[in-house]
Amino acid sequence: MSIVPVPRVAVIVVAAGSGTRLESDVPKAFVGLDEHTILRHALRGVFDAPSAQVIVVAPAGREGDALTDAQEAAGDRRDLVTVVTGGSSRQASVAAGIAALWGDIEYVLVHDAARALTPPEVFSRVTAALEAGAPGVVPVMPVVDTIRQMDGDAIVGVVDRASLRAAQTPQGFARGVLERAYALADQEYTDDAAVLAAAGHTVTTVAGDPAAFKITTRADLERARTLVSPVPHVTLPAGDSPLSPRVGIGTDVHAFGGEGTLWLAGLEWPGETALSGHSDGDAVAHAIVDALLAAAGLGDIGTHFGTDRPEYDGAHAEAFLDRTLALLAEAGFRVGNVSVQVQARRPRFAPRRAEAEAALSRALGGAPVSVSATTTDGLGFTGSGEGVAAYAVAMVVPTR
Ligand code: CTP
Ligand code: MG
Repeated sequence: MSIVPVPRVAVIVVAAGSGTRLESDVPKAFVGLDEHTILRHALRGVFDAPSAQVIVVAPAGREGDALTDAQEAAGDRRDLVTVVTGGSSRQASVAAGIAALWGDIEYVLVHDAARALTPPEVFSRVTAALEAGAPGVVPVMPVVDTIRQMDGDAIVGVVDRASLRAAQTPQGFARGVLERAYALADQEYTDDAAVLAAAGHTVTTVAGDPAAFKITTRADLERARTLVSPVPHVTLPAGDSPLSPRVGIGTDVHAFGGEGTLWLAGLEWPGETALSGHSDGDAVAHAIVDALLAAAGLGDIGTHFGTDRPEYDGAHAEAFLDRTLALLAEAGFRVGNVSVQVQARRPRFAPRRAEAEAALSRALGGAPVSVSATTTDGLGFTGSGEGVAAYAVAMVVPTR
């Protein structure tokens, strides 16, 4: 969609956080939702709404990746893109974005990249309120939970939720007001509206959107991934009692000769030759994924983790099993148990068998996993040490 840019509006997309609560290996904005990163998804919403400048605030060292994402999302509007380096707090990152505003910008929208699925309509509502004269505008959602006031462990009151709203982004500001409020800020505030309020300005609200939720935890990430790639609906074969457990089988083979150290059964094996393959070549984890997907009738590993998915490049067992659990849950199954056998001359499994079972079980939300290992008396490709093979059987139990 090509929209005529509205002069005077800039969007600052803050993407410089590390994502501590997500516990990912890469900064949060660069975690994949499908074949695209969180940042790239966030920028799609940004570029679907009219603006005259888009400033991406990237983590130090990631400016080039941010520029690639931004230019791809911008299409024929790539002239609008500026990338700057963020700071050690969100507020410092916003300040870095403010410093990069072009001279003719009059309105500034500050947006969290972590709210990757924010629809363009929210941007439009915020911009419209600014053009109508508001100095500061925040998209808000009603609070659905009952909120309790605590003193230590004791409940001392219930806050009337009718008077509460949850704040989202993009938050919009008249440029001069935002610049002056930031210049005055002498402490860290939780968001930009709070910086403005501290400087004595009234901030108004517009309706937010449930899709603008912030990706903070692993559960949020799974929710976002499910929203961008919905799980195909499963139809149980006729006559199948809905509550019968179902079994599935999975096998996988990988050759030695990858880069780095060996990852197998969810464990790193220092000093052992790595397996080759997209991701880390963990044949044990991949066989388990296939067995679980087969049991639930959800296709196989190629259906959900194709080699065209960069987010699984170099990924370890946990990422695969985590996503598989979410797919199963969505389709109405939990894991009963898993039994997997690995055929390999190396590494020697016996000393770390219990550790492997614990790691795989943890990645499957605590479901029991048995790991057994065997050599093949020197026969075949596993016996000669060319590679490893894994065979898994899984049982899943319907939850509805
Ligand atoms: N952010 C930023 N610079 C920082 C910290 C945060 O640009 N120094 C950005 C994040 O990239 C995110 C937004 O501010 O888009 C909201 O922050 P949050 O969700 O807390 O992200 P993180 O700080 O990365 O996550 P965590 O708090 O779990 O570490
Ligand atoms: Mg944070």
